[in-house]
Amino acid sequence: MLSLFSLLCFYGAAASLANCTFGKELLLMGPPLLKAKTAVKGPVPPPPCTCPPSHRTSSLRTIADKLNAGGVCGVPTDTVYALAASCKHPEAIEMIYRIKDRPQEKPICIFISNLDQLRAATPPFSPLLWEFMEHVYPGGIGCIVKKGQWLKKLGVGAGYDRVGTRDSIMIRVPDQTVTVHLIDMTGPLAITSANPSGETDSTHHDMVITRLGHKLEGVLCDGESSEMVASTVVNCTTIDAEGITILREGCVPAAKVMQIFEKVKNQMV
Ligand SMILES: *[C@@H]1O[C@H](CO)[C@@H](O)[C@H](O)[C@H]1NC(C)=O
Ligand SMILES: *[C@@H]1O[C@H](CO)[C@@H](O)[C@H](O)[C@H]1NC(C)=O
Repeated sequence: MLSLFSLLCFYGAAASLANCTFGKELLLMGPPLLKAKTAVKGPVPPPPCTCPPSHRTSSLRTIADKLNAGGVCGVPTDTVYALAASCKHPEAIEMIYRIKDRPQEKPICIFISNLDQLRAATPPFSPLLWEFMEHVYPGGIGCIVKKGQWLKKLGVGAGYDRVGTRDSIMIRVPDQTVTVHLIDMTGPLAITSANPSGETDSTHHDMVITRLGHKLEGVLCDGESSEMVASTVVNCTTIDAEGITILREGCVPAAKVMQIFEKVKNQMV
C-alpha cells in the first residue's frame, strides 16, 4: 500500500515539476481536482449615472451640485428612496413627471431641512400651525398646508401647479442626517417617491439605479431604507377652525399626532 502511495506522490510531484519547468505537460496530469476560485467576472458595467456613497461629504456636494444645476437625483429619506429636484428649478420639477410617467397619484411635496427655510418664504401660517410644525418636525409626519404666493419665494415658480394638489402642498422635514445635510446645501427640494408609476417603492439604492438610473443625473447611495413604511400625512389646512385630520396613517401613529396637536393647542390658550 505504502509503496503504491509513494509512487503516486512521486508521479504527482514529478509531473508538476515537469509542467512548471517546461511550461507544458510532459507527464500526463489530467484536469485539476480543485480549482482556486478566480474572480473572472466580466467587467462590471458602469452605473447609468453618478452613484456616490452617502457617508462621504464629497458625495453630498456632488449630488447637491447636480440638483443646484437643475438635475433630478435619487436620494434617501427617513422613509423610502425619493426623486428630488431643486425648488429653484421648475424645469427640473417638470422633469420628475417625465421620469415617473404619471406621478399624479402621489403629488410632489416639499422637503426642507428646518423651519427656517420655510420662515424665509414668509407663509401666512397661524401661530398654532407654526407651533404644531415645531413639535412634529423633524420626523415621519408631513403637514398639508394651503398653497400661496409664498411658494414662489421658495423658488417654485413655473412649477407652482406641478407641486402638491390644486390648492394644497405637503411639507416635510425628514429625520435623516444625510437628507437634511443635503437640503442645507440645496435649499428646499421637490420630492416624490423613487418608483416608476404603479410599481413598488424603492427600499434600496440599487432599486433606484436599476429602474430609473438611466433617467437620473445621480443617486445618493445609502443602502437599505431606514423605514419601509411611508410618512403619516396630516391635513393642516383648517388647523385653526376645525383642527387637523389624518389623511394617511404611516410610520407615526395617528393617536400620537392627535396627542401632539391637543398639547400644542392647549399651550396656545
Ligand atoms: C501546467 O503549467 C501551466 C503553465 O505553466 C499551467 O497553466 C497549468 O495549470 C499547469 N497544469 C497543471 C495541471 O498544473
Ligand atoms: C383638507 O381638509 C379640508 C377641510 O376639511 C378639505 O377641504 C381639503 O380637501 C383637505 N385636503 C386634502 C388634501 O385632503
